Amino acid sequence: MGTLYLCVLFASLLRITQCAGWCYKSQFSCENKCSVPSQWLGVAQSCGGKSQSPINIITKKVTIRSTLTPLKFNGYQDLFHGSITNNGHTVKVGLNGSAVISGGELEASYKAMEFHFHWGKKGGPGSEHSIDGEKYPMEMHIVHIKDKYKTVAEALQDPSGVAVLGILYKDTGNNNQKYDPIIKALANVRHPGNTSALGSLTLDALIPTLEARSQYFRYMGSLTTPNCTEAVIWTVFENPILLSKAQLSLFSELLFRNGMPMVDTFRPIQPLNDRKVFYSGSHIVPVSTMLVVSTALITFSNLLE
Ligand SMILES: *[C@@H]1O[C@H](CO)[C@@H](O)[C@H](O)[C@H]1NC(C)=O
Ligand SMILES: [Zn+2]
Repeated sequence: MGTLYLCVLFASLLRITQCAGWCYKSQFSCENKCSVPSQWLGVAQSCGGKSQSPINIITKKVTIRSTLTPLKFNGYQDLFHGSITNNGHTVKVGLNGSAVISGGELEASYKAMEFHFHWGKKGGPGSEHSIDGEKYPMEMHIVHIKDKYKTVAEALQDPSGVAVLGILYKDTGNNNQKYDPIIKALANVRHPGNTSALGSLTLDALIPTLEARSQYFRYMGSLTTPNCTEAVIWTVFENPILLSKAQLSLFSELLFRNGMPMVDTFRPIQPLNDRKVFYSGSHIVPVSTMLVVSTALITFSNLLE
C-alpha cells in the first residue's frame, strides 16, 4: 500500500499518466504503474458488476441441490502434449477443445480451451475462492466454452457461454508426481513471453478422483481478471488436490514479471450480493460413520427380537 500511495502521489505531482495495463497488487511498482484490482473498474466496467468472482463460499448457507449430479468428463483421459506460457499474470496451458464436460445442470457441452493457476507466496494462501473464509495455497481454473463457439471471446457474449472448473490445493509432505510435467516446465518459463513444451499428461490426472468430483459448489459469476465478464458458470470442487509445500513454492519462486517474483496472483473476494451458491449435496459417507450406524442398527434389531 505504501509503494502504491507514493507512486500515485509522484505520478500526480509529475502529471504522469502512464497506462501499464492491469495487474495484481503485488505487481505494482514505481517502474510499472499498472492498475491494481481496486482500479480494475477503470480498465473494464464489468469489474464493478454485481455478479463478480471469486467469492467466499459459506457452507452453512449453500442450497443443497440433488439435481447437481456428477459432471461427465469426455476426453479428459486422453494424453496430450501441450505448451505452457508465462503471460505476466499466470502460467497458462492452451488446449484444443477435445476435452469436454457436460451434465450437472450444464445446459450444453462445454469444451476445455485452457487452464491456468492462481497462487500465493511460498505455499501461503493463494487461492481465489475460499471456503468458510479459508484460503487454499493454490487454485487451478480449467476454462471451457459452449461447444458451438470457437473462441473464449465469442463465448463471453453469451451469459452462460463459459464454464470454469475451480480446483483447490492443499499442502502435504509428499510430492504429487502427477504434477511433474507442469512443475518441471516452470523453470523454462520464468519470464513473460516464455513458452515451453510440456511432457505428456492427461487432464484427468490433474483434477480430483472420480468419487471426489461429486462434491462441488455451483454459482453464476465472472472471469476473475479484466474484463471480468459475467458469463461464467462456476463449478468449484470441494475436495482439494494434494501437492507438497515444495511443489507449491516453485510457482512463486521460479516465475517472474518485470524482474519481480510473481506472487499473490489472485483477485480479492467479491460480494455475493443476491446470488445463491448451490451444493451438489452428495457427501461421501465416511466408512467409520457407516460402521457406527450399522452397529447401532444391529444392536437395535437385536433388542427387538
Ligand atoms: C524468456 O524471456 C526472457 C525475457 O523476455 C528472454 O530474455 C529469454 O531469452 C526467454 N527465454 C527463453 C528460453 O525463451
Ligand atoms: Zn483464473
